[in-house]
Amino acid sequence: MDPFNLLLITVTVLILYFSLEFLLRDRITKYVDKIPGPIKLPIFGTTWPLLFLPKSVMFIVSKDVLRSYGPIMRSWLGREPAIHCIEPENVEIILNNSIQITKSKMYKIVHPWLGDGLLTSAGEKWHKHRKFITPTFHFKILENFVDIFVEKSQKLVEILKVKADGDIFNIYPYITRCTLDIICETAMGVKINALDNPENEYIKSIYGITKLTMKRLTTPLLHPDFIFYKTPFGKEYNKYLTILHNFTKQVIQDRKKAFKNDHLHSLNTSIDEDIGIKKRQAFLDLFIEMSNKENAFTDEEIKEQVDTFMFEGHDTTTAAINWALFLLGNHQDIQDKVYEEVNQVFQNYENLTINSLNDLKLLERCCKEALRLYPSVPAIGRELTRDIELGGYLVPADCTVAVEILSLHRNPKVYSNPDNFDPDRFLPENTKNRHPYAYVPFSAGPRNCIGQKFAIYEEKIILAYILKNYKITSTQTEETIKPMVELILRPKDGLFIKLEPRV
Ligand code: HEM
Repeated sequence: MDPFNLLLITVTVLILYFSLEFLLRDRITKYVDKIPGPIKLPIFGTTWPLLFLPKSVMFIVSKDVLRSYGPIMRSWLGREPAIHCIEPENVEIILNNSIQITKSKMYKIVHPWLGDGLLTSAGEKWHKHRKFITPTFHFKILENFVDIFVEKSQKLVEILKVKADGDIFNIYPYITRCTLDIICETAMGVKINALDNPENEYIKSIYGITKLTMKRLTTPLLHPDFIFYKTPFGKEYNKYLTILHNFTKQVIQDRKKAFKNDHLHSLNTSIDEDIGIKKRQAFLDLFIEMSNKENAFTDEEIKEQVDTFMFEGHDTTTAAINWALFLLGNHQDIQDKVYEEVNQVFQNYENLTINSLNDLKLLERCCKEALRLYPSVPAIGRELTRDIELGGYLVPADCTVAVEILSLHRNPKVYSNPDNFDPDRFLPENTKNRHPYAYVPFSAGPRNCIGQKFAIYEEKIILAYILKNYKITSTQTEETIKPMVELILRPKDGLFIKLEPRV
């Protein structure tokens, strides 16, 4: 085509696009475009170009670039605007809000698997279910899960023995199997034995669906259902979905039958005097019991909650444990001090208990600092149901607001040398004047993480067992590890370390 015609066509297309944009320019656009942000390109908006760069670049963007626009920034993914919050004051306005609890459109990507479970639901359904589920995370229930955390950690340490020969290996899959074993047993009461049998169909489907969910999230072309389900990815996704849903349904049916036949009473259960809930029950058993007594959930709703726990309860803790190992493997001086602390605690207790965990203070500070630098959930999103004011700008209803946890946690105004690993930032004297919304790895406010305590206990126990038995050396550094910002923040190629036996 001759250059003049090409220019004419390009100009016509641009004029048409801008006229259409002007006509469709609604209230949202008017207000959103007053907020600072990168240059907006026709059709592409501001963020599409980023999607074609390596995924690890998003880490740099989330960590540093967002900050360059001021306390809030606007972006456009095509015609979809988002407002990004990185300052504690604005994060508080969003999270400490009992009205703005609707999740952003991004969460639709997990909807086929999780349905309207606690993570994705909103409105009355979420309120009702959150109220029913909150007591199931009571200290007394968690106390009973500690035995399971200990048993699986011991098994992990045993399995890692063959790897403790000084050779480099990827520990990420081993931690995943351990947390999957834990969540299967605590959520469903099922021993899946992923540590022994990683080829299990259910486990493979969890890996598969998680991978495809991330693939879809980061490939805008795969977002529309009518495209996704026609591609080989969509077909594979459906295959995994059927396996996962059938498995959960079968477990629910079996447990309900067992309840009816009163079999569960033979399962080492006893009434806890303080809270009136039977001990040593999985979350699923508690949900079934609530349904029998108070009509709390339908079978479909139980399935949604169990699937949600399976998703939220293993990937997040796996990432957190790996990042802590990565940092300790790069800071031998701190690792040695944690080792001393762990040894001391094991001198007093044969196996870890919920009380002994309180003595692992330095380890806890390391876990917190690892979640600051590498929060398992790097950002969370809300769909505004009403207008709000943020950083002096009106942000209109129907707009997405993203709380950028990763950027918030590396705020130089709050944390000196924000990229440095320094667990002592979490000493009481160093936290007492910190803004409460400057550190929110588990979110905060009404929609905070219901599994927070569960996660901390699990993380401390697994790490304590590994560190007591092995000295860890990271072979990757901050510069080479390539963190990937997706639904979960994880190292792109896994976590490569060397293990040496401590004894
Ligand atoms: C280190 C581990 C974990 C981290 C960093 C983490 C982080 C979070 C965050 C940031 C949210 C808010 C998400 C949002 O608003 O979109 C959340 C919600 C949630 N988490 Fe966790 N989580 C962890 C472990 C767990 C575990 C072990 C469970 C279950 C056993 C769990 C269950 C949930 C559920 C059900 C929600 C939705 C709560 C609601 O909206 O009412 N999480 N988590």
